[in-house]
Amino acid sequence: MQFETILLEKNNGVGLITLNRPQALNALNSTLIQDLNLALDDLDRDSSIGCMVITGSEKAFAAGADIKEMAELSFPNIYLDDFFHLADRIAQRRKPLIAAVSGYALGGGCELALMCDFIYCADNAKFGLPEVTLGVIPGIGGTQRLTLAIGKAKAMEMCLTARQMGAVEAEQSGLVAQVFPKEELVEKTLKAAEKIAEKSVVATMMIKESINRAFEVSLQEGLRFERRTFHSIFATQDQKEGMQAFVEKRQANFKNN
Ligand code: CAA
Repeated sequence: MQFETILLEKNNGVGLITLNRPQALNALNSTLIQDLNLALDDLDRDSSIGCMVITGSEKAFAAGADIKEMAELSFPNIYLDDFFHLADRIAQRRKPLIAAVSGYALGGGCELALMCDFIYCADNAKFGLPEVTLGVIPGIGGTQRLTLAIGKAKAMEMCLTARQMGAVEAEQSGLVAQVFPKEELVEKTLKAAEKIAEKSVVATMMIKESINRAFEVSLQEGLRFERRTFHSIFATQDQKEGMQAFVEKRQANFKNN
C-alpha cells in the first residue's frame, strides 16, 4: 500500500509504520491520521502480522497535531465534525502496538505514543503537552492517558507549564518501558515486536484486552474478566501446543488457532 504521509513495511510478523512528513516534524494533519488508520486497519486484519510498531524520524516522533491546519478552525466546524474522532480509532486496535519514540513527542505526538500499548524511546526523546502555550488544551487523550501513566502531580505540571520530560525521567516515571541509544531504537523495538509476533496472537490479544480492562472497570470486574478469558484460552490449539512444547522441551509453533 502507498501512502502520502507514512511508510508501511511488513517483515517477520511485524508491521512497521514510519511517520513521514519531515518538513513538518511529522505533525499530525488529517491526511496523516487517515493514512495511519488505513495502515493499522490493514495490519490488524493481516493474519501474517502479530505486532505493530509506529515510529517517526530521529528528530521527531511527531511534534503535535498540525497547528497550521487547525489555526483557522471555528468552534462550530470542529464540534460538528467531531474533530479528532478518527484519532481515537488508533487506540482501538486489537493487536499489540508499540511506539518507538525518538526526538520530539509533543502534543498530539505524545498523545499518539500514549495510545500505543507501550513506548520504547531513544535517549534524545522529549515528551510534552505544550498545548497551553497555544491557548488550547490537549485534545487526543493527553490529560487522561498521561495522568494514568505518570500520576496527577507530573501530568498537571507538564500540562500547565508545558515542561518537556526527557528520556531518563520518562523511564523513571513509568511513561516508557525502556530507553535505548537513538541509533538502536528501531532495531531494538523490532526485535521485541518480533518476539511478540512469534507468540499466539490469541494470547497476546487477550493479554492486551485484559490489561486495558484495568483502566476501565473495578478491580473485581477486571479480575473476573481476566479469569474468564484465561479459562477460554484453553479452547485453543495454541494452548495445547504451548504447554506440550514446554513438556517436550522444544520451541512452540503457534498457528493462532
Ligand atoms: N504543526 C505544524 N507544523 C509544525 C508543527 C506542528 N505541530 N511542529 C513543527 N512544525 C513545522 C514548523 O512550522 C516548521 O515548518 P516551516 O519550516 O515551514 O517553518 C517545521 O515544522 C520545522 O519546525 P521548527 O523550525 O519549529 O523546528 P525546531 O527544531 O526549531 O523546533 C519544535 C522544533 C520545538 C518541536 C517546534 O517545531 C515546535 O514547538 N513545534 C510545535 C509543538 C507544539 O506546540 N505541539 C502541540 C500542537 S497542538 C496539539 O497537538 C493539540 C492536540 O492535543 C491534539
